[in-house]
This record gives sequence, structure tokens and C-alpha cells, in this order.
Amino acid sequence: MNEKDHLHFETLSIHAGDERGMGTPLAIPITQTVAYRFKSIADAANLFSLEAEGSIYSRLTNPTVEILEKRIAALEGGIGAVAVSSGLAANLLALFPLMGPGLEFIASNRLYGGSIAQFHEAFEKFGWHCHFVNIDDFEGIKNLITEKTRAIFCESQANPSTHIADIEILAEIAHTHDIPLIVDNTIPSPYLIKPFLWGADIVVHSTTKFINGHGTSMGGIVVDGGTFPWKDQPHFQSLHQPSGSYHGLQFIEKFPNAAYITYARSVGLRDLGFCQSAFNAFDTLKGIDTLSLRMEKHVKNGLKIATFLEKHPQIEKVHYAGLPGSPYFKRAQKYSPQGISPVFCFDLKGGYDAGVKLVENCKLFAHAATIGEATSLIIHPASTTHKQLEEGQLKSAGISPNTIRLSVGIENVDDLIQDLEKAL
Ligand SMILES: Cc1ncc(COP(=O)(O)O)c(C=O)c1O
Repeated sequence: MNEKDHLHFETLSIHAGDERGMGTPLAIPITQTVAYRFKSIADAANLFSLEAEGSIYSRLTNPTVEILEKRIAALEGGIGAVAVSSGLAANLLALFPLMGPGLEFIASNRLYGGSIAQFHEAFEKFGWHCHFVNIDDFEGIKNLITEKTRAIFCESQANPSTHIADIEILAEIAHTHDIPLIVDNTIPSPYLIKPFLWGADIVVHSTTKFINGHGTSMGGIVVDGGTFPWKDQPHFQSLHQPSGSYHGLQFIEKFPNAAYITYARSVGLRDLGFCQSAFNAFDTLKGIDTLSLRMEKHVKNGLKIATFLEKHPQIEKVHYAGLPGSPYFKRAQKYSPQGISPVFCFDLKGGYDAGVKLVENCKLFAHAATIGEATSLIIHPASTTHKQLEEGQLKSAGISPNTIRLSVGIENVDDLIQDLEKAL
């Protein structure tokens, strides 16, 4: 374990994972290379057979990307991570070591629309079946688990309903049935919610959002909490069976504590190919330097704006777990005690037309299909981010035709309120 692992979040955000030592550039260099010189034939052979750690080819590892992986693993409290090219690539990589044709997983029906579409459509083509559930229906979840089920998947704070998952209970259900809990922690970032503290086994992120924070680089990451007992669970065949491409190596024997994350990189990333670029890793690391400061400001601004909207006569309902009237307020206080990430939605009186008018009237809130940036953002989910969803899926995701989503930035909050007030 690195001595930096014991430092506080703000310090880890700036230092964790950077073990380059004296005499190296102060800034993290962008190692813009495809391949690395081997020391010898024996060295190359050892690297290829996973007998030694080191760089072969940037689809698998890259020194800049490696610092990002170690930094986010430290911020989440995990044992290792694999960075990929987007958040949806992270979903795929997280499930890849666990799944196979004919196998199933259970996912919350309150996920980001793109994740629902991915699970519903693309994964079916691999023969992976997703059961979408009300993630608060614990009995329903238990009843759905069979010998084919390989994971439970939820968002810690859902986009955009601010539903807060009861991670502790979900982890207990998962573990009772010998399967891991995967938590998408994109919306709160590890600054606000720490899924591993509550029993989650794997965390995924779209680093495109708050972790990067400036909307300049796509990225995703899978983090291994290191506590799931893969060794005792032979139904995770990829980790237990001899690997053909590594001459019969059994990941669980060779890497007893890191079989999952090593398989994710050595087979998943190698064969699926969606590696993160060195430049994006560098840019995302720059974003992480200020993650704690930004999140504090995001949280404060979000609460003020939610409170303003709740009192506004043209607003029907504000869906924001940081308000005492929210059904998730208590859970938010438990899991996200420093406040709620400011990606939330509200329903407007006046239906669809009023929504269009509001979006078009805003001057500071930019109309764009993303979240988690310094800039405040506004969008109409039913016609954009959640457009792929059917009516029933929209309903369970908490989206109506008159729903507007905000991602509150870090501008002066009075200016933001004035922008909304004028637009309303
Ligand atoms: C919660 C959540 N997870 C995953 C994703 C997908 O991330 P990406 O766009 O980086 O693939 C998003 C995108 O908005 C998201 O909001």
C-alpha cells in the first residue's frame, strides 16, 4: 500500500497515483506513444504472459492513463482501476468479466437513458439479459435472482431523478446470493458518495462528467473494491477457467486478490479495445485537481436553485433529494452527507411548450446534452437524452414530457437564479 493512501481526499486528488519520484517533470507528462521498448526478449515474454508488470502497448497500459487509474482508485478506496474511452465503455467493461451468453443481471430502471438503451439493446446481442427493476423493491430483486444472475447494477444518485440507491441493502442482497453490486457513481463523484464504504464491489464512472469537470474529454473507468470473494465463486467462469490466450493461466490463481480487475484489463480492454487516450487522461487529471472545490460549489448552488424553483409558481414539482420533502432526503443524508450533486429535474406547469420556451429563453444555462461541467446546463430529457426510451421506461426513470433537467455549474448563484427567473 502506498503511503499516499492515508491522505485526505483533497490531497489524494492532487497526488495519488503519481509515483514518478525526483527529477521528473512537475506536471504529469502526456506519454503520447503507442508502444514501449522492451529491455530484452525475456522481458517482453514476461510482460506478454503477465509474469511481470510493465508497458507493452497503449491499448493495455499507458503511463499517463495509469496515473489517472491509480488516482481514481485511491479516491474511491479501491484496489485498482481500468480507464476506458467513455462511461458506456466502462459499463461494458465492468460486466465483461462476469457475463456470458445466456447469463443475466439486474439493473435499476432509474438509470441514465443511454445506459438503459445499452443494457436493453446492445447487450441483448451478446446474449446478456438485463432485468430492469424498481431498485427499491428489495423483495422483487431477491425473487428475480437465479443461478444465471451475475450482478446487480444501480446508480448511487440517479440521473436525473436524484433517486438515492440504498447501497448497503443492495450489497447485502447481492452478497447473500454470491454476486457483486456494481454502482455507477458518476453523478455524485467519489467526493460526495463512496459506494465501497457501504459494501459495493465495483464502481463505474463516466469521467466525462464531474470528474473531468470541464467538458473537454470523454472517459470512463471501472474500479475494483477488492473485497468480493471471487475465489469462492466458481460460477464466475472467466476468472476461474484456464485462459486460452494466456496459455492456461487461471486469473484467480495468479491474481487471487485482483483477478477481476486484471481480467478486465488483460482480456477485456485488450480485446474490446476502447482504451483511454493519454491526452484525455492528462486533461481529466487536471480536472481532478479541483474536484473537491468544484463539488462544494456545485452542491451549494444546486441547493439554492432547487429551493428557488420549489417556491416558483410556474413549477409543478422539483425532484431533488436534497430538499426535506423528497422521498430520498433521509437516504441522501446517509449516503451523501455533504449534499446532493446538482443534476436534477423539475416538472413545469404548461407542459411541453412551456419546457421548450424555458430552455430557449435561458442565457447562462447552456442548452447541451451533458452534465457535470463548470458551466450550468439545461435540457429537455424526453426529446433528447432519454429519447431512446419507451413510455414505460420514461415513467420509471421519472421523466415526463414537461420535465426539465438542470446541471448546475459553479457560476455565481444569484446570476443563475436571475437567468432562470427571467426565462420562466
Ligand atoms: C450516470 C451516467 N452514467 C454513464 C453515462 C455515460 O457516459 P459517457 O457519455 O461518458 O459514455 C452518463 C452520461 O451522461 C451518465 O450520466
